[in-house]
Amino acid sequence: MNSFTNDFYLKKGIIFLNHGSFGATPKPVLQTSQFYQIEMEKQPVEFLGRRAGSLLENSRNILANYLKTSPQNIVYITNTTIGVNIIARSLELGAGDEVLATNQEYGALDRTWKFLSQKRGFQYINHPLKVPVKASGEVIECLASGITKNTRVLFISHISSPTAMIFPLKEMIQIAKENQIITVIDGAHAPGQLELDLDALGADFYVGNMHKWLCAPKGSAFLYASPSSAHRIEPLVVSWGWQSENPSGNQLVDFLEWQGTRDISPFLSVPSAIEYQEQHQWKEVRTRCHHLASLAYQRITELTTIPPLYPDSLDWFSQMVSLPLPNSVNTDELKDQLYDRYQIEIPIISWNNRKFIRISIQCYNDESDINALMNALTHLIPF
Ligand SMILES: Cc1ncc(COP(=O)(O)O)c(C=O)c1O
Repeated sequence: MNSFTNDFYLKKGIIFLNHGSFGATPKPVLQTSQFYQIEMEKQPVEFLGRRAGSLLENSRNILANYLKTSPQNIVYITNTTIGVNIIARSLELGAGDEVLATNQEYGALDRTWKFLSQKRGFQYINHPLKVPVKASGEVIECLASGITKNTRVLFISHISSPTAMIFPLKEMIQIAKENQIITVIDGAHAPGQLELDLDALGADFYVGNMHKWLCAPKGSAFLYASPSSAHRIEPLVVSWGWQSENPSGNQLVDFLEWQGTRDISPFLSVPSAIEYQEQHQWKEVRTRCHHLASLAYQRITELTTIPPLYPDSLDWFSQMVSLPLPNSVNTDELKDQLYDRYQIEIPIISWNNRKFIRISIQCYNDESDINALMNALTHLIPF
């Protein structure tokens, strides 16, 4: 229990250490979303037909300010999976071309690229990164060694799903630029965990979830395209915005925002999620969460004696950390036992022929959650 507990609907008695998979939304933010749903129901044609455009524009302006970019460069989408699909399908790639990624990308998006590579004849390469790492230079050097004269796209997570590692993005984007390689960043876990400055980052494309660490309602994400790359984006779902009779002057928004009738309340509640975090001194919350993640790092490492993948530092992880477990662990069994016997919701992951536990710390967690996890692991894992 802490001062945030009552702001969430999370079930009492469940130790929720998996904000990284599906994050919980604070009650005031959810109330904003419900307010807009009711507004829509009062006069659906008025809401979707006349008000939606300016409501979305206002929400986009606030989001752009938060992400440190121009509202011209971003558009709301439902989730990161859709965003990466939009970008991957838009890029003109064919036989002889290569898309370079790491071996730490999110499985669903590996599938997106593999599917397209089979249809279009380009190569999708999951370049293996050496672990453990001690310095960012090692990651940069290793990934850069995967660049060839055929590399057209670099697809890379900002924070990796299986390892929770923060990638040295700025340097990688710089190297890609020097090699005329288009950068596509999967930022599913970054907004809310990291301070973002999209203009300074300089990626061609960046997709981020608002419904994970910003705690906005499910179904809120954004797609960023730099001014020099936005022309490459095509509408994945072709609707009124293509060959529009009333173009807004922003092709990204015209092509992607209206995808037929749908609930836009998650998009409209993003300003409320930003405000919630500002009102609660989120920098301090984040620091407290990182310290707890770091405590889990130290205690699990002490228990397993297996070297972690990266140093215990804010440069490598923020509120989420993945730690190696003995290979003898049965991932499904351990996950079920943690939930069924100890009411702990936490992912146990297989990656690169190894086993990991990924701990997510959000504002509502405290040290007693780590203590409970350690107690359960001590009993469940045979050392
Ligand atoms: C790194 C990464 N990318 C993309 C996604 C997909 O996010 P969504 O389900 O919101 O599309 C996830 C989900 O956990 C993820 O961890």
